[in-house]
Amino acid sequence: MGKLVVMDHPLIQHKISLIRDKSTGTKDFRELVEEIAMLMAYEVTRDLPLKEVEIETPIAKAKTRVISGKTIGIVPILRAGLGMVNGILSLVPAAKVGHIGLYRDPETLQPVEYYCKLPADAAERDLIILDPMLATGGSACDAITLLKKHGVTSIKLVCLIAAPEGISAVQNTHPDVDIYVAAVDECLNDHGYIVPGLGDAGDRLFGTK
Ligand code: PRP
Ligand code: URA
Repeated sequence: MGKLVVMDHPLIQHKISLIRDKSTGTKDFRELVEEIAMLMAYEVTRDLPLKEVEIETPIAKAKTRVISGKTIGIVPILRAGLGMVNGILSLVPAAKVGHIGLYRDPETLQPVEYYCKLPADAAERDLIILDPMLATGGSACDAITLLKKHGVTSIKLVCLIAAPEGISAVQNTHPDVDIYVAAVDECLNDHGYIVPGLGDAGDRLFGTK
């Protein structure tokens, strides 16, 4: 079973409270989502492999460590995952960015794929899927399946708010994938929205409602 990491750092919890608040407008919502993603990136990248190198400081030669091995790719699920991209890139500026377009059919709640463009070397990279909301888990499970079909073997899922149902769905369907979230909420409502959640992440991010 992949690990479930709930990131309870005070700065993250504070900012999650702000994005939950329905009076938080689009500009602040967008900035906060980016900031939370940046704070989460610190933990998500904790196990990156290092290698020793020798450099020269102005004073002396030094044996020191840099990141080695496979490099990172980030894959936002459109639309709402886009809001997390710059936060991760601010810590991992060399990451390549793929995109997966999925929307949830409002009747069936099933994800419908409409776009997929990945880095050419995606299969050699550690890929991090970004989506603020893990509700039924359908979108995340389909995105992971799609990456696996492209030969990707190292996948992490990073979400801001998750429902227990979504976490179970990913753990059952893709037990090899580690999940990082900032909050685990109570449940889903009849429309598949997370309770208490934050509403529709895409609409709040892009001001479409
Ligand atoms: C939202 C969210 C996730 C999905 C989560 O996207 O950003 O992708 O729903 O729900 P699930 O876990 O039940 O699949 P939505 O389909 O609303 O598309 P949007 O980002 O374009 O608004
Ligand atoms: N998608 C959202 O944007 N919000 C939810 O609560 C569930 C799915």
